[in-house]
Amino acid sequence: MAAQLTLHDLNLRFGGITVLEDVSFQVEPGQILGLVGPNGAGKTSLFNCISGHYRPTSGTIAIDGNAVEGNAPATLAAHGLARTFQHPALQLEATVLENVLLGAHTRLPGGPLQWGMRLPRTVRGERARRAEAVELLERHGLGWATKMRADELSHGLHKGVELCRALLSRPSLLLLDEPAAGLPHAEVEHLITTVRRIRDEDDITVIVVEHNMGLISALTDRVVVLDHGRKLMEGTAAQAQSDPRVIEAYLGKDATDDAA
Ligand SMILES: Nc1ncnc2c1ncn2[C@@H]1O[C@H](COP(=O)(O)OP(=O)(O)O)[C@@H](O)[C@H]1O
Ligand SMILES: [Mg+2]
Repeated sequence: MAAQLTLHDLNLRFGGITVLEDVSFQVEPGQILGLVGPNGAGKTSLFNCISGHYRPTSGTIAIDGNAVEGNAPATLAAHGLARTFQHPALQLEATVLENVLLGAHTRLPGGPLQWGMRLPRTVRGERARRAEAVELLERHGLGWATKMRADELSHGLHKGVELCRALLSRPSLLLLDEPAAGLPHAEVEHLITTVRRIRDEDDITVIVVEHNMGLISALTDRVVVLDHGRKLMEGTAAQAQSDPRVIEAYLGKDATDDAA
């Protein structure tokens, strides 16, 4: 079941630096929300708050009405949250398949003790998980890379591997941080199809941070624009692109920076 996410008056400060200020919005189950804004706007920090990597200074985060702010990443994963990172950090010496299998931990039956003892039930579970991971990789055009070491793949492909890892945990809420960065145009088209299919077939709520406005327009139901840690506006991608405040926010910064 796709999750509902509600943020209310979220604030994040580090010492004297305000990173997020009174950010509120809601994402309905099954929606794809685009989170956009210039570099440094606070998009990744907002993801870090939702995924438990940062503890917000104040404000609330609710998944399906349950307050989750300040929970540890593992607890949030158990709530159905999965994410990819702006800068993927795969286990470079492990294979692509092994990297994807790291996403299955939240779903293994029993606890670490049982996993260590390799009980028959655990082994069966592992085999099923492995088959599922291979299927995910094939579905995302990475079947050929299953047995390759992660460091043999390009940065763009690491994002695909991370996406498969995130999907293996069968999330109800998926956060994607700049999934198209570093991808050639044809791959971006493929990514758009993939994310749309994820939403339609897997019944997942998705928030995507992206500078590629083609992707944002093609994929999202709604966008939230952040600037200097504040919500500048909320609306459709078309509304955002023609909003003078949004245009100014982008032009006020070095727009070429954002494309990098
Ligand atoms: N752990 C941290 N400590 C101090 N400042 C941080 C920390 N994380 C993020 N920031 C600051 O928050 C601001 C927003 O960064 P970020 O969330 O990465 O923006 P975006 O993803 O929109 O480019 C930046 O000025 C960044 O330096
Ligand atoms: Mg970022």
